[in-house]
Formats: sequence, C-alpha cells, structure tokens
Amino acid sequence: MGKLKILAIGGSPKKGNTFSVLNLIKENYPDIDLKIIMLKDMNLELCLGCYSCIRLGEENCPLKDDRDTIINEMLDSDGVVFASPVYVNSATSLMKNFIERTGYEGHRPRFYDKFAMTLAVCGMFGAKETNQFMSDILTSYGFDVVSSLELQVATKTEKETLYNHKLIVEAFDSFIDKIEKGERTPLPMGQLVRFNLFKLISEHKQDYFKADYQYYKDKSDLPYDGKISSVKKKLAYAQAGKMLNDFMKVR
Ligand SMILES: Cc1cc2nc3c(=O)[nH]c(=O)nc-3n(C[C@H](O)[C@H](O)[C@H](O)COP(=O)(O)O)c2cc1C
Repeated sequence: MGKLKILAIGGSPKKGNTFSVLNLIKENYPDIDLKIIMLKDMNLELCLGCYSCIRLGEENCPLKDDRDTIINEMLDSDGVVFASPVYVNSATSLMKNFIERTGYEGHRPRFYDKFAMTLAVCGMFGAKETNQFMSDILTSYGFDVVSSLELQVATKTEKETLYNHKLIVEAFDSFIDKIEKGERTPLPMGQLVRFNLFKLISEHKQDYFKADYQYYKDKSDLPYDGKISSVKKKLAYAQAGKMLNDFMKVR
C-alpha cells in the first residue's frame, strides 16, 4: 500500500496558529502524504446565490476559479481535514464561503468512501461548536467524520504547547487508524432522511432539480447504505416522505 493521502484545508486568513498545527502534523508524520491548502492562497469568489450548481450541476457555476482544484484534491485523497480558527464563535468567513461554494455536494453526496477530521483552533471558547458545524457539513457531503480536535491556543507557554501537542497526536493517530481500518460508520439516521428527501424532492420537481434528479434516477438503491438494515432504510424513506408531505401541505 502506498502512502496515505490526506488533504488539509485551512480557513485562517493568515499563516497563524491553525497553519502551525497543520504544519506540525506534516512534520510529525513523514510517512503520510499530507497536503495543506490554505484557502487564503486560493482564488475563491463569493457564492452568487444563483442556484446553478444545485439545480443544474456544479459545472454550471458561473464563477471560474479554484473551487474545482480543491474539490479534485479532496476526491483524490483518502481523508480530508477541515481546519478553521474560531472567529466569533464559528468558522471563518473563508471556510464558510468554501462551504457555500461546495454546498451542492450535500445534495448529491459523493464522498461516502472518504474519511474526515475537523480541527478548530480558538483562544478559549467556541471550538466545539465550530467543529460541530464543520462536521455536520462534511457528513452531509457523505464523509465519515471520525476525528475532531479542539485546541485552545492562548498563552503559548511550554506547558500549553506540550499539552496541545499531545491532543494533536491523539486526534490525528485516531484519524489515521480509522482510515487504515477502512470501516465506515453507518450513516446517521438524520443523514439518511436528508438523502431520501433530496431524492423525493427531485422526483417531485424533475425540471427544477435537474442535477439531483439525474443523480438519483439510476440508483435503485442509494450507493452508500450497504451496511444499513432494510428496516432503517424504510424508516428513513417514510420519514422523508412525511416531511415532504408536511412541506407541501401549505404550498
Ligand atoms: C475576528 C476574531 C474573532 C475571534 N473569535 C474568537 C472566539 O469567538 N473565541 C475564541 O476563543 N477565540 C477567538 N478568536 C481567537 C482565535 O480563535 C485564535 O487566536 C486562533 O488561534 C487564531 O487562529 P489563526 O492564527 O490560525 O487565525 C478570534 C480571533 C479573531 C481574529
């Protein structure tokens, strides 16, 4: 087996603490092919809100920039790290914009054979919420989010640095271990419902949600649910159907 390929996407507007953590990981794991992309170094326009990616397919986005370069790197890796500092209790605007620009991935999830880790670096608070935010997004893209790391970088004393180093190694070891074992955690029920909902909506509005309709049309069974029991599948389908019915009742 060749080197594991990991892509780390950093959301800080500078080469600060988040970049240092990613670099430390890179230096400490020479056997892993870790590529760091700092979003600040990429050309990423702001989402225009035109819905072209969601409705017609991501290739119809009018913005021509580095979005696909990053997506292709993600597709080409065994695992992805979403790393953001905490800016006012959440991920940075750079990270949020990248998420908006790739939000269509949540409609037609194709990362279900890949693992992800989240890293949030704060001064004191907000890392848990930031990780939860990024983890929910990655799950909606199909990823199996198997590790998360909350770091408080405040004093930069030797004591703090050593403590953080220990947390970094524990979280990254666990990430690599899960990738090497290759056993995907079954999708959470909420996510299964969401996929079913997009499938049903696209059947309901075929002309509007063209890309979703094409994506789900040829799949008699969803591609990512090999390990999910038929009972759970039926429940998810029924729940999605009820949600759509309730939605349509007042429309
Ligand atoms: C605009 C801004 C908002 C911030 N908001 C928070 C916050 O809500 N909670 C917190 O603990 N730290 C906050 N911080 C501190 C950063 O999370 C912390 O310094 C982090 O290590 C910065 O990472 P970076 O150097 O990679 O950008 C904030 C920093 C900035 C610049």
